[in-house]
Amino acid sequence: MTKAKHISELMASRRALLGGLAGLPLLNLAGCATGAARAPAQASLNFANVAPTNADTVTVPPGYSWRTLIAWGDPLFEGMSAFDPDALTRDEQEKRFGTHNDMLALFAGDYAFPPPKHQDRMILCANNEYVSPELTFPAVRDPRQFTPAQVEAMYAAIGVTVVEIARGGDGWHAVRNAAPGQGRNRRITPFTPVQFSGPAAHHPWIEAAKAVVNAAEPDRSGGQAPADAVRCGTVGNCAGGLTPWGTYLTAEENFHSVFYAAERNAAPGTNDADHARDARIFGYPWGMPSGVEALPRQFQFAQNPYGPSLYGWVLEIDPYDPNSTPKKRTALGRKAQECATTAITKDDRIAAYMGDDKANEHVYKFVTAGRFDPNNRAANMDLLDDGALYAARFEADGTGRWLKLTPEAANAAAEAQGSPARFRDAGDIAMRAREAANLLGATPMDRPEDVEAVCDAQWRGLGPVLIVCTKSSDRDPNRPGNPRRLDESGAAHANRTGHIIRIDEAGGDCAAEHFTWDAFVVGGDPNATSLTLPARDGSPAQIATGFGAAPANSGERFACPDNIFIDSDHRVWISTDGNPDIFADCNDQVLATPLDTEGPRPLKRFLVGPVGGEICGPLMAPDERAFFCAVQHPGESDVSGADFFETRWRGAAAPSSFPDGGWPRSAVVVVTRDDGGRIGD
Ligand code: FEO
Ligand code: CA
Ligand code: CA
Repeated sequence: MTKAKHISELMASRRALLGGLAGLPLLNLAGCATGAARAPAQASLNFANVAPTNADTVTVPPGYSWRTLIAWGDPLFEGMSAFDPDALTRDEQEKRFGTHNDMLALFAGDYAFPPPKHQDRMILCANNEYVSPELTFPAVRDPRQFTPAQVEAMYAAIGVTVVEIARGGDGWHAVRNAAPGQGRNRRITPFTPVQFSGPAAHHPWIEAAKAVVNAAEPDRSGGQAPADAVRCGTVGNCAGGLTPWGTYLTAEENFHSVFYAAERNAAPGTNDADHARDARIFGYPWGMPSGVEALPRQFQFAQNPYGPSLYGWVLEIDPYDPNSTPKKRTALGRKAQECATTAITKDDRIAAYMGDDKANEHVYKFVTAGRFDPNNRAANMDLLDDGALYAARFEADGTGRWLKLTPEAANAAAEAQGSPARFRDAGDIAMRAREAANLLGATPMDRPEDVEAVCDAQWRGLGPVLIVCTKSSDRDPNRPGNPRRLDESGAAHANRTGHIIRIDEAGGDCAAEHFTWDAFVVGGDPNATSLTLPARDGSPAQIATGFGAAPANSGERFACPDNIFIDSDHRVWISTDGNPDIFADCNDQVLATPLDTEGPRPLKRFLVGPVGGEICGPLMAPDERAFFCAVQHPGESDVSGADFFETRWRGAAAPSSFPDGGWPRSAVVVVTRDDGGRIGD
């Protein structure tokens, strides 16, 4: 392919990317600078770029060191034995760090607003998203041999872990409490009592599922849980967020795959057309040709057909009170909930941004009716029960708006489109938010994952919001905000490398109903000499990020962004999930780039994780002298891309021995500078 032809193709690609944004200056693509969001200090990225690697370890720049903070199975309480994955029981797992850690959040040792910069004692909340059976019980030789007790222990490894951490002479380490309730350490699992609040709290589907769950799972709280609690806990905990009042928001993503039937996508059999549509929209139940009866009863779909209505929510947890009952905030809507990140609006309300991580689903925002009171923590505790839920619509001209989801608007849209869907009330809208957003014309996105508002030190949103779209196999070019590269024949190709969009809320206010948008980062290779590259599976992947005179990015190549962290200098730290599917020579990683920059956006690689693990939850301590991230499911695949799920039962050894040379375990790692300085300076 000649260079000239290459550039002309890329120009065509750029038009496809922008979906008709021809009127904007070319350099807009490279990332614009806005006065309102300019970083408070000169953003620096003064670390040596880490080269691509398939090493089965964490690799960081010279002058930096990493170590494991906590890993799956580590005890949360004193007097417990070292972890033996073959001896795991539900009871044990309820006192040990969960598996498949994703989102991380840090809370000050004692609540204060704004969060203090210097802390020697903090609370870490970590999501435990799901469990890979092949990474459990190393002695089992055949997956059909898992016992009901082992399956129950696997379920207990999901949810959330709350664990205190402290900084000593040797840096940050996890703290064990003397016993449950004596300190902040706790597990929240798929069996923990939770309450439902907000408009869908008493939805008939939830009431039906509650009866099944509470019959299957006895009350083990000793009468401490509220009478209306549902012992369904939480599952699919992917990303999440923090509130200014010191609570943790965990987002329930892939709940559809914890409900099993003998046949995948079996009809619910409830004679309820809304429910049948919901099952199709979310893709439940998952299939398990034999062995369904080994599952806890509430996760057997035939026994609990409305069970999936208990999940897909944002669960709010008070990490300061180990005896508090977490609450599902139904006002924020049900979806494959990826995150719930907050910003204070100009009039002191709270905006919560959310992604729905499925191809062609949407980006959402919730704006509370009430205002945040920094001087009265208790008064803020139910702010997330009342407000307006929106979904984003991106226009090809670079503008966009937040569509308010109401029963009236959704019913009118359904009627106009000849859809049988109807919504009785706000509870129905919350329960079936995906369906409502679709009817109202929200833009189908390329799997929106993390969404983060740029905030000042007082948690006030400044206007810019970054939306991370991990990838999509959809080829439809009519998706404003979602790039489609064109080949020589003009055919649009799937966005296999993902991208990040920047929106700017009107008036710099996170309560706004209008915004403008632009590309922030395009996944791929800025130095590509051809438009396509063979992906790890041999299929051609469109990977070029250059767009003629205005390449989107410069520096390091990457694919499949997932989570981001924006530090106090507005440097954006990006973690990836699926990079090696496209660029086989590098495991998943963390890259950094400034929010505001001139010309092509520079990307530097800060960290590479071990074999078969995605990197999640990038985060810094408040003084920005420690960087945390989650290494999720090391060993789930090998460097050739073969899934351990397939190879283990044929006798393959685990593809990773991260973090300590033994059986692979998900782990939280902490990275510091050897001279104690600020990360990235
Ligand atoms: Fe759990 Fe959407 O990544
Ligand atoms: Ca994610
Ligand atoms: Ca992901």
